Amino acid sequence: MSSVAVVGAGYVGLTTAACLAHLGHDVVCADVDAEKVRRLEKGEVPILEEGLSALVVEGLAARRLTFVLDAATAAATTEFVFLCVPTPQGDDGAADLSVVEDVVREIAPVLEPGAVVVNKSTMPVGSTRLVERILGEAGASVDAIGVASNPEFLREGTAVRDFLHPNRVVIGCEDAAVAVRVSDLYGEVHAPILVTDPASAEMIKYASNAFLATKISFINAVANLCEAVNADVREVALGMGYDARIGFEFLHPGPGYGGSCFPKDTAALLHTADTAGYDFSLLRGVIEVNRRQHERIVTKIRDAAGGSVNGVPVALWGLTFKANTDDLRDSPALAVAASLFEEGARVRAYDPAAGEKAPAALPALDIAADPYDACAGARVLGVLTEWDELRWLDFDRVAQVMERPAVVDARNLLDPVAMRRRGFEYQGVGR
Ligand code: UDX
Repeated sequence: MSSVAVVGAGYVGLTTAACLAHLGHDVVCADVDAEKVRRLEKGEVPILEEGLSALVVEGLAARRLTFVLDAATAAATTEFVFLCVPTPQGDDGAADLSVVEDVVREIAPVLEPGAVVVNKSTMPVGSTRLVERILGEAGASVDAIGVASNPEFLREGTAVRDFLHPNRVVIGCEDAAVAVRVSDLYGEVHAPILVTDPASAEMIKYASNAFLATKISFINAVANLCEAVNADVREVALGMGYDARIGFEFLHPGPGYGGSCFPKDTAALLHTADTAGYDFSLLRGVIEVNRRQHERIVTKIRDAAGGSVNGVPVALWGLTFKANTDDLRDSPALAVAASLFEEGARVRAYDPAAGEKAPAALPALDIAADPYDACAGARVLGVLTEWDELRWLDFDRVAQVMERPAVVDARNLLDPVAMRRRGFEYQGVGR
C-alpha cells in the first residue's frame, strides 16, 4: 500500500481521497478552506454524493484518511501527490491553470526523490509537461520526480461508484516504471488500464466529454426536429439505442447539458483547437445547440403563459444541473430562471436538494418549501431537473393550487396522457 497526498477536497479530490483510502492506501487530503477541513476531520461531508460520507467516516476511523490545510505538509512525506484543484474556464474559454501552477510551486521544494505528481483535474493538452517544467523552475529535482496524467471520469451523484468501478483507468506518462507505480494504486480496481503518452491521456478526457456533449446536443436537435414533424423523440431515441454502435445512454433531450464539466471542457477543447489552427466547427455547433436549447425552454414557458411572462407567476421544479446532486454550477435550470426574471416573470422554485444554496446563485429566486407551495397561484410550471420524487406527486392537488394548470416538462419526466387527463396543458421536449 502507498502513501498519497490529494490536493483539493472538492468533488474530485474528496472522492479520490476517500476511495484511495478505501482501497487501503494512506491518504492525506489538503484543502485551503479551513472550515471545510475542520468539518471533514469530524466526518462531515459538505456535498451530496452517494456513498462518500460512509467512505470518509471509514477512512477516518481506520486512520487511513486525514485532512490538512497545507498542500506542502501533505506532499512532504508521500509517494504520490494527486492534483485535484479547480481548472475553471478563463475569459478566453481556455482552462485557467493558475491554481494548479500555484500548488505545484508550493509543493516542489518539499517533494521526496521518487515522488510522483499525478494530474487528476481536467487539464488541457500539454499540462503534464507544464507541471514538469514548473517543478524544475521551483527547485524540485525533476530527474527524481515522476509526473503523470490520470484523468477522472467521475459523474456527480455516482462519483464513488465510478471511481471504484470505472470503465477504464487512463494513465499518461512517458516513464513506464512511473506508469506502473500509478497503476498499482488501482490494484484492487477491476478495469482495463490504458497507459499512453501524456498528450493522448489529456486528449482522451476532453474528447470523451466533448463526445458525450455531442450526443446530448444531437438528441436535443433531433427533439426539436421531432416537434416540427410530429414524431416522438423518446421513440426515436429508443429505436436508435438498440443499435449497439449508438447505445441508449446520453440520448435524453432536455434543457441542455450543464454542470462543472461539459460547458467548461467543451469551451476549453474549442480553444485548444483554435490555438492549434483547427476549425472544430462540429464542436462549435454542439455548444451553440446547447445555448439555444436553454432559450427554447424559455420560449415554451413564455408561450404556455400566453405570449409573455411579464408579471406572470411561474413555478419551477428542479434547479440543479441534473438530479441527485446539490450542484448548481452552470445549471441550465438557473439559466432558464435568469431569463424568466429578465422578462419580468415572478419565479418561485422548488428543489429537493439545492433550495438553501440557490439564492446565493440567483438572489432574486423565491424558494418554496415543497413542490405544491412552489405552484401556488402559478400560471405555468416548468420541470427543469429530472428528480424522481417529482414524478410521484398528487397532480390533482398541483392543478388545484395553480392559477391555470399548464406544464412545460423540459425533461420529459411526466406522462403527457395522464397529465392531460388531469386537465393540464402539457408540453414536453420533442414529442
Ligand atoms: C460529466 C461526465 O459524465 C463525467 O465523466 C466527467 O468526468 C464529468 O462530467 P457530470 O457533469 O457529473 O459528469 O454529469 P453527467 O451525468 O455526465 O451530465 C452532464 C449534463 O448533461 C447534465 O446537465 C445532464 O442533465 C445532461 N444530460 C445528460 C442530458 O441532458 N441528457 C443526457 O442524456 C445525459
